[in-house]
Amino acid sequence: MNLNLLPPPLFVCLAILSVLATAQQQQPSPNATGSTFDCSFRGSLDIFNDGRLLVQQITHPEEETVTIEMTYAGQGWMGFGFSERGEMLNNIAVLGEPGVDSTTEVPNPSKWFLGGFALSQVSRVATLQQTLTESSIVQNDTHTVLHFTKPLVEPNERDVLTNGAPNTVIFSVGATNQILGPHMLQGAFTLELTPCRNVNEDPDEEAPLGNTGVDLFNTEVAKKSLLQAHGWLMATAWGVLVPIGVGASLLRSWLPDGLWFRLHQGFNTLAILCVIAGFGLAVRSVSNQNESHFVNETHTLVGLLVFLLAILQLAGGVFRPAAPKANESELVALDADDTATNEETKATNLPIKKSSFRMLWEYKHRVVGVVTLLLAWLTCQTGLELYAEIFGVEESTTAFWSVTGGLAGVIVVLTIFAKLRG
Ligand SMILES: *[C@@H]1O[C@H](CO)[C@@H](O)[C@H](O)[C@H]1NC(C)=O
Ligand SMILES: *[C@@H]1O[C@H](CO)[C@@H](O)[C@H](O)[C@H]1NC(C)=O
Repeated sequence: MNLNLLPPPLFVCLAILSVLATAQQQQPSPNATGSTFDCSFRGSLDIFNDGRLLVQQITHPEEETVTIEMTYAGQGWMGFGFSERGEMLNNIAVLGEPGVDSTTEVPNPSKWFLGGFALSQVSRVATLQQTLTESSIVQNDTHTVLHFTKPLVEPNERDVLTNGAPNTVIFSVGATNQILGPHMLQGAFTLELTPCRNVNEDPDEEAPLGNTGVDLFNTEVAKKSLLQAHGWLMATAWGVLVPIGVGASLLRSWLPDGLWFRLHQGFNTLAILCVIAGFGLAVRSVSNQNESHFVNETHTLVGLLVFLLAILQLAGGVFRPAAPKANESELVALDADDTATNEETKATNLPIKKSSFRMLWEYKHRVVGVVTLLLAWLTCQTGLELYAEIFGVEESTTAFWSVTGGLAGVIVVLTIFAKLRG
């Protein structure tokens, strides 16, 4: 930065800012001979190789600062931060909101702490930690530009590496100007910083640009697909398979002998396999980052309860007490050549005394089944809400309830109809 070229008011402003920043950081004052450095950007990284997002950077070896400029060919809020492995969570990032005034109390752009995916977990860091200088977010009809300078080393922040050591950086661009609205572009890449050229010492040649081979990776994208798969498995199990399995049991009087049980067993077995797989994905998505992100108490705790109840129900189904002969034929798949059993099946309507243990079991099986299903639906609802909140997308609760509610509604109506007729 060539201070002599700046208009006097801006120069005074910057001088005050840097004095303030220095006082706050208690670092030695910057070298006054900064003008021996040529700190103009040397080139830009084209993040998506299509000109949509350009990043320029330069580090000042004596002031020990890094200057970043990110240009987006569009309009939206912008964010940029340093990260350990490309993860967004628990990092500090610079976020800029176009069209919003910057004040001392509430600077814009400013540093934010990214404590979680939910909006409530993202907040501005304390004023003392707002050490950005020369920061701005400027927008015209076609472009938005985020610009800032920050110290390389700051308390409570990841050190920015120089001398060819690669940093991992994260970025995001909003779909709208309103900060923390949905992301439009996001990702991470490794970045080697370019030092300012020392006019007196360095020959005037092309400096290395840093890492131009942008390597996009983003743990949250992987997490998103993990949670998507979790959602699909759970919604299919509890929203479709289990209702059909329960429906087969409720409508047994309409089904050919023994078929209801095979449907009940088949659909519920398929459902429990989906639930086990979905549960595994949920556990994985949480343990992936060693921290309890995504902890939405209701969803996690009720979800865990539902999982345990589902396993209990599975065990209960496998180790059910024997029913009296005729009923047994309903419960175990029929052997077509077992004529004795078939004859007994025809006599199903006759009152046959069940053991009290068996009756107790049937009662428990139904109550636990219904309670589990209702809790599972509640968990699907909270899960879909959470997903929409985390990733800033439309809630798909309506779609879920259209399918599941429709299916459940049809089964209930048919069951009432069957009861009235029977
Ligand atoms: C400032 O930088 C110049 C040129 O690199 C150097 O000669 C000088 O000693 C530095 N001054 C201070 C106070 O660090
Ligand atoms: C808008 O800003 C971009 C980036 O700074 C610049 O390249 C472009 O010329 C500007 N457009 C207009 C119409 O000023």
